[in-house]
Amino acid sequence: MEEGKMMVETPVVYAVGNTYQILFYLTHDAYASVKIGETVFDDAVCGNMRSLPGMRRICVPQALLNSAGAYTLRLERIKARLCYRTKTIAVEETTYPFVPVKQNGEARAYMIGDAHGNIDGAIKAAKQSGAFDFLIVNGDIGESADESQMLQSHELASRLTGGSKPVVYARGNHENRGAAAEILPQYIPLRDGCTYYTFRLGGIWGIVLDCGEDKTDDHPEYGGAARFYDFRLRQTAYLRQVIAAADTEFGAADVTHRICVVHTQFPCKQEPLFDIQRDLYQTWCDLLDEMGVELILSAHMHCYQYLLPGDPDLRLQTYCPLLIGTWNHVDVIGGSKVVFEKENICFSCKTSDGITRLEGTLYD
Ligand SMILES: [Fe+2]
Repeated sequence: MEEGKMMVETPVVYAVGNTYQILFYLTHDAYASVKIGETVFDDAVCGNMRSLPGMRRICVPQALLNSAGAYTLRLERIKARLCYRTKTIAVEETTYPFVPVKQNGEARAYMIGDAHGNIDGAIKAAKQSGAFDFLIVNGDIGESADESQMLQSHELASRLTGGSKPVVYARGNHENRGAAAEILPQYIPLRDGCTYYTFRLGGIWGIVLDCGEDKTDDHPEYGGAARFYDFRLRQTAYLRQVIAAADTEFGAADVTHRICVVHTQFPCKQEPLFDIQRDLYQTWCDLLDEMGVELILSAHMHCYQYLLPGDPDLRLQTYCPLLIGTWNHVDVIGGSKVVFEKENICFSCKTSDGITRLEGTLYD
């Protein structure tokens, strides 16, 4: 962190619903606002400007930022926050260009996950796959023992997008482990406080799901902290809510592709220790099919695999392909480039050593 610098890296622009959540990490006391065109969005709570250091979040309408193509982050540094006449000492304004995903034409996603703290390796892997239009951060970027680990995902997304491209975030199971896990929600995009949500990027509609941990809640590894059975049940209810709102979600007239992003490859065969909640997860598969999801993008296994419905490595009935698209072996990290064409989806899985280990297309 540079001496005197007010912010760590750049902001990160996350897509949630029909909004962008702009997250940025301040190292000093400061008021913050985002200006798009002539519209100002203040970082305020119940009428008071926030001023403490740490992660901040300003939500803006997608349509506004998409059409403006840039936003300005205004930080007003505070010398002393007082009950009377707080003193501010400097204003810093930085304008970030922003390139939205186009409604029509090809859209290139890059998915990364399972870096497990190797941020430089993940950056190296991304560079192997060339330019992209939006980033998918699919979990297990770090651990959750302390705040520095919470910031690793933010750092990765910032270094790959510079705050100028949209990012989709899905939580991994390792982000649930450790003393800082309970403060993770301050560091990531959320919908009404939840880590599962839908998003729109151009013609692409997506749903992010969160399996939480990968073993039963009472496993001693979790030390009594896990409550993911209830958490998953709430997601089943949410999936049904999304189906009830089809017209404004996956059923909207301008949706061209439908995907699901989820860190854990829940439809796949599992060792007995991890083979939990089959009925609930089968319901998720069935509901995703009702939404017309064409592709499930997962991570977690540290190696690539593409599974069509009926694959012997599945434990559940699926209705669309599943791509496990992240890699982590020793110091080699890998992600996936996923290209959404008008009537097809293509993928290419390349690791940081430059080897393409898996590629294909959804439709012949
Ligand atoms: Fe994982």
